[in-house]
Amino acid sequence: MARKVINRRVRYETEYGAQKKEGHAFFPYAMFHDVVVNLLIVLIIVLMAVVWHATAGPINASHPAGTNGWFGALYETKANPAVAQTEPRPEWYFLFLFELLRVFKQPWQLIFATIIIPTLLMVMLIAWPFLDTGRDRRLSRRPAGVALGLATPAVLIALTLAGASAPGAISGANISKNPAINALPGSQLIADAACATCHTFPTGGASGPGSSLANGSTKYGTDQKGLATWIGHLANQSGTGMPAFDQSFNQQQIDQIAQVIASLKTNSVQPLGGS
Ligand code: HEC
Repeated sequence: MARKVINRRVRYETEYGAQKKEGHAFFPYAMFHDVVVNLLIVLIIVLMAVVWHATAGPINASHPAGTNGWFGALYETKANPAVAQTEPRPEWYFLFLFELLRVFKQPWQLIFATIIIPTLLMVMLIAWPFLDTGRDRRLSRRPAGVALGLATPAVLIALTLAGASAPGAISGANISKNPAINALPGSQLIADAACATCHTFPTGGASGPGSSLANGSTKYGTDQKGLATWIGHLANQSGTGMPAFDQSFNQQQIDQIAQVIASLKTNSVQPLGGS
């Protein structure tokens, strides 16, 4: 064992001495190589942009959507300012952050997901060489470092997978799998009010902070009067964090929303106002 280590050290010293005598210094030789390669890559990117611009056609009467260039579409679909509901979903490599935000549901907890946890991880990354001062490089002698090193990708992968399978946004009034419920005026109002940003509905929505309404209300069931009072102002007065909707809707509209929530309970259309 010991002989092996000494051999390695001798080999290293020999190599180091030889390189020091005959090798090229980092500056200017290696720096020069890097500069040349970097400039080449920038040049290739500029060339690709020029070719894209030259081959992509204008938007005019004969090409209302434009013509795609060699290196990609002219433009993706144009932004539509009339769309009130979007599905904010990041690229896959940000899904872990997306899921981290979903883990913390209350507004006061968001500071953990957005600032405190990422900052702690960054500080840890910078501090690690000073914390782990052991000279042994064998993995079996560095259990803490190895555990942290394995835990980090494991947590990131788990968060990414969970984020990828998060329920999506609901398109329009399709809050239920029952078309008759979706056709009720209250379903469109629920879409307009974006209740699904806090509640799960049978076709999707957020998993919090509100409870799931996929099977209707646990508190009120088919009690439309109770539901209307809750949605109008009682939820807000109770300090749940759910807004009061009697500012944005009139009483008839709130009754229509209550009708839909009651209908979700039985998965069949309840008469307006209850039976
Ligand atoms: C800002 C988030 C938020 C929005 C938006 C929101 N709610 Fe809520 N809602 C909550 C919270 C928080 C609660 C209280 C926790 C609970 O009981 O689910 C709640 C409770 C409820 C309950 C009682 C839950 C139960 O199982 O009995 C109903 C019904 C309800 N909301 C309906 C609605 C409707 C309908 C809308 C849209 C018009 C809406 N909410 C919009 C956050 C929200």
